[in-house]
Amino acid sequence: MNQQSPIQNQNILAQNSLTQAALGTPERPFLMIPGPTPLPEAVRAVLGEPAIGHRSAEFKTVLARVFAGLQWAFQTQNPVLMYTASATGAMEGAFQNTLNPGDQIVVLCCGVFSARWADMGESLGLQVTRISVPAGEPNTVESLEAVLTADTARKIKAVVLTHSETSTGVLNPLEAMAKVVRAHGALCIVDAVTSLLATPFYTDTWDLDLVVSGSQKGFMIPPGLAFLSVGPRAWEAFERCTHPGYYFNFERNKKAQQDNNTAYTPATPQCLALDVALSLMQQEGLEAIWARHQKLQTQIRDGVEALGLSCLVPHTQYASTAVTAVYPPVGVSVSSIRTYIKQHYAMAIADGQKELKGKIFRIGHLGHISSTDAERVLGALEAFLKEDR
Ligand SMILES: Cc1ncc(COP(=O)(O)O)c(C=O)c1O
Repeated sequence: MNQQSPIQNQNILAQNSLTQAALGTPERPFLMIPGPTPLPEAVRAVLGEPAIGHRSAEFKTVLARVFAGLQWAFQTQNPVLMYTASATGAMEGAFQNTLNPGDQIVVLCCGVFSARWADMGESLGLQVTRISVPAGEPNTVESLEAVLTADTARKIKAVVLTHSETSTGVLNPLEAMAKVVRAHGALCIVDAVTSLLATPFYTDTWDLDLVVSGSQKGFMIPPGLAFLSVGPRAWEAFERCTHPGYYFNFERNKKAQQDNNTAYTPATPQCLALDVALSLMQQEGLEAIWARHQKLQTQIRDGVEALGLSCLVPHTQYASTAVTAVYPPVGVSVSSIRTYIKQHYAMAIADGQKELKGKIFRIGHLGHISSTDAERVLGALEAFLKEDR
């Protein structure tokens, strides 16, 4: 089987250089939101190619590379299931295939996406204990430890940890938290939707049971694919699960993937794009990708602070390397900042969500983003602040 990289052409690589900021237009602004993220030139090119049969030999070759590449991205030997869905689909799959109605779980809540796990758990009949913190704060290892130590009867079956909370820009201390969960024995379910490929992440070394991510984030391809790494304890839990469901069913999907296939019709363009994106990422290297995101975070945080603004997450130690949430100046609306940057600089930044809507703006620095892009968004912000209003 041909396992060669899909990127053979040095010109294509040059076009994907991260030193050149891709320009947008006010109608189609350059995305500095925390997903969907900008697309490298080679990814855009493959999305324009003719259709491919999803059961063809050629496509199987692509899937073989993609499945191996996903294990590399997750740093795991476990199967990484790939679903045609958004990441929320993989979240539901993780619950449905490992837990039964009435099971107790703990969800660490620190924003919109971590709370989604708790809401979803309740919708599936799980008994959910939420450990919540105010917006902008990380969850603490101590509060998790207190709840798990009190559970002497080992009734808690799973703990959900959100690594990078995209709604606030918080980065939780995942490695330390996972150790506490391991000591208790509950399944450790991790939302790595905006941390994977932006922050050091080791599924196997940290012994994580279920890890979820999605295509439109660090993977640098459009929405449409969800990924779920399933470890040995999660497979044991699957065996005890009474209603694992159909579409996201672990066994059906694993069986198909073992044959370099998918259980159901996949989003073929996204799979081709993922093949190319993984090849680009493997050439950059995981450490280099993590370091680039770390640098971008520092550049953005230092930049907005130099402009007199403050970040929602005060401590860099707990700040996401994918997204930074910033308070607007007093008396200035978030919508006026976003509109100015879009109209004058052709860049999109995100509003806050739910109770943070209109109170913060979020700059995404995830995926195919360079320091030139970060400079441009900071320049746009500076120009906005200097305008006479
Ligand atoms: C941390 C986190 N979890 C879950 C999700 C849900 O992903 P999706 O919108 O792909 O379903 C998102 C989306 O932004 C996210 O940022």
